[in-house]
Amino acid sequence: MIVLRSLSRRLPFSSSTARLAKAYSASSAARLTTASGSAEHPSISSRPIRASVNTPASIAFRTFSSSLKENYENVLVESRLPENSDIVGGGVGIVTLHRPKALNALSDALFEDLIHALRAFEDDDAIGCIVITGSGKAFAAGADISEMSKLEFATVYKMNMFAQWADITKISKPIIGAINGFALGGGCELAMTCDILLAGSKAQFGQPEINLGVIPGAGGTMRLIRAIGKSKAMEMILTGNRITAQEAMDAGLVSKVIDSEILVDEAIKMGLGIAEKGGIAVRMCKEAVNAAEEMTLGEGLKFERRLFHSLFSTKDQKEGMTAFLEKRKPNFTNE
Ligand code: CAA
Repeated sequence: MIVLRSLSRRLPFSSSTARLAKAYSASSAARLTTASGSAEHPSISSRPIRASVNTPASIAFRTFSSSLKENYENVLVESRLPENSDIVGGGVGIVTLHRPKALNALSDALFEDLIHALRAFEDDDAIGCIVITGSGKAFAAGADISEMSKLEFATVYKMNMFAQWADITKISKPIIGAINGFALGGGCELAMTCDILLAGSKAQFGQPEINLGVIPGAGGTMRLIRAIGKSKAMEMILTGNRITAQEAMDAGLVSKVIDSEILVDEAIKMGLGIAEKGGIAVRMCKEAVNAAEEMTLGEGLKFERRLFHSLFSTKDQKEGMTAFLEKRKPNFTNE
């Protein structure tokens, strides 16, 4: 059993969603957040979590840090810690999209909650990896059509609609997408911003925007072609047809198909495995692999090499290589 303790905050939130900016605290002091076991999971033990600790370096780099809210309206958040409490930063933060009546349609409010929770996990030194998943029969059925339907060009242009979705790509910790049910339109696009995609056996992927008289607007035409190639991407985008989990796997969109019942557990298990590795190297892996999508081969190889060189300034490199030679498990400290 890898998971020892869990913090769950699965309480629906009744008050209005605060704007993201208000959610930041200007305080640079370390803060403690305590949560109790939820009504749905009364047996889950509660624990105080260190939601945010600003080191001098992070204060210099970023003026704000966020911590998880007690409750969110549209997402559920949970932390899982490794059994071995000596593992530094070995926890997994789980964000479950939770707007079941609208099949997790990605309203502005949901997206704000999602970004807020992701940033909180990003700032939490106890967390080394993040899982995003859906609930019920959908990961997410796309951007919220009822919110969009009446908007005019001038409005969507001036608000630069969907630009804020790119904030997900600023998260430096790895994100595993555990995709259950429908991942359509913006849902498929959100999935593609994750770093590793695991599909539940009942998952379906599609870009049906063409049926609404529009095109994918949050990365579908750009990321899908990189993931599955032009012909398959073009077919999905032009026909609006959905593909199954197995087809997504065969096309290279997802890395595994897993029984829906155990999908999230498997994603968490994978996340715990990643989180126990050296945190700086993990983030650099993500940075380098994502850079590969945007760089020429020559630039990318040089970038990768420089990142590799820089890791020789970390304690984790010394520890990792020493531990190998001493035939023991490394104790990474993320330094
Ligand atoms: N926006 C708003 N509400 C949505 C929604 C969406 N994207 N998708 C589903 N819902 C709502 C439905 O309106 C319905 O609400 P009511 O019960 O109040 O009527 C509820 O969720 C359940 O949906 P259905 O009754 O349609 O469920 P179903 O099982 O019959 O069908 C489905 C499921 C195939 C996913 C279907 O709901 C569907 O086609 N949804 C829309 C998918 C879509 O077109 N997504 C693209 C959106 S545009 C976009 O995402 C742009 C972008 O690039 C970011």
